[in-house]
Amino acid sequence: MLVFAKIISVQQKIESLKSGTSIGFVPTMGALHEGHLSLVEKAKNENDIVVVSIFVNPTQFDNADDLKNYPKTIDKDLSLLKSTNCDIVFTPTPEEIYANNIQSQSFDFDGLEFQMEGKFREGHFNGVGTIVERLFEIVKPNKAYFGEKDFQQIQIIRKMVEKRNLPVKIIACPIHREKDGLAMSSRNIRLTKEQRVSAPFIYKTLKQAKAEFGTKNALEVVKWVENEFKNHPLFNLEYFEIADEYTLLPVETKNSTKKYRAFIAVFAGKIRLIDNISL
Ligand code: PAJ
Repeated sequence: MLVFAKIISVQQKIESLKSGTSIGFVPTMGALHEGHLSLVEKAKNENDIVVVSIFVNPTQFDNADDLKNYPKTIDKDLSLLKSTNCDIVFTPTPEEIYANNIQSQSFDFDGLEFQMEGKFREGHFNGVGTIVERLFEIVKPNKAYFGEKDFQQIQIIRKMVEKRNLPVKIIACPIHREKDGLAMSSRNIRLTKEQRVSAPFIYKTLKQAKAEFGTKNALEVVKWVENEFKNHPLFNLEYFEIADEYTLLPVETKNSTKKYRAFIAVFAGKIRLIDNISL
C-alpha cells in the first residue's frame, strides 16, 4: 500500500498505471471504521486498484468546534487500510488542497441542497461538492463509492456528476451498523458510555417508524417520532423527515410508484448523529 500526501505524487503514480487499469475511489475523512472498510472491499471487488483519500475537509464544517473535535486517528487508519485490499492512500493537508484559499465553490444542486442536512448545516454541501470534485480531478476514478449513511450526500454527488458531466460512476453502498443497530460513524467514539448504550434507540425508532408508515400517513409518523424524542433524557431530535428518495422533498400524500426514505438527525449532547431507512 502506497501513501501520498502530495497531489503531484499521487497523480504521477496514477498516471504511471497501465492504460485500462480501472480505479475505484473511496473518499473519507478518516477515523475509519468497518463502514468505511466495507466501501473499500466493494471497490476492490469491482476495480483493479483502490484509492482511498483521508482528508478532514474544513469547508464542509459549519461549526468550528465540530471541525476541531473531529477525531483524527491517521496511524490507526493506515493500519486498518493495510489489512484491506487498498492500494493507494491519499492524505493531503488543507494547504495542499486549498493553497491559501480555504473556500467553497457555490453549487446549484437543483434544490437537493436545501433539504434536511442543508437546512441545518449551512454551506455544508458546497463544501462537499468542492472537495469531491477536486478529489475526482486528482484521482480520476472510474467508480467512486459512497455510503447510504449519508444518503443526501450521495444524491447531491450524483447531481453534481450529472450536471458537470464528470466521467465517474457513483456507487451507493448499504449502511454498516453495530450489532445493536447503531449506524457506524466516526463520531460514535465521542459518545459517553451512557449515550452509547442508549444510542440504538435511534435506529429502533426508525424501524418502528417504517412499520407505522405502513398504516399511517407521513405527518402522523413524524408526530409519533417527535413525541418519542420529546421526553428522552439524552437525545434531542433535530429533524425527522419522510422524503422522496430522488427529490428529497417531504412526502405529502403517499404514491405507490415512488420510493420513500425516513431521515433523522439527533444530538447526543454536542455530538450530532444521523441515520436513515428505506421505507
Ligand atoms: P466520512 O464521513 O468519512 O465518510 C466517508 C464515506 O463513508 C461516505 O461515503 C460515508 O457515507 C461512508 N460511511 C460512513 N459511515 C458509514 C456506514 N456506517 N456505513 C456505510 N458507509 C458509511 O462522508 C464524508 O466522509 C465526506 O463528506 C467526504 C465524502 C469524504 C467529503 O469530504
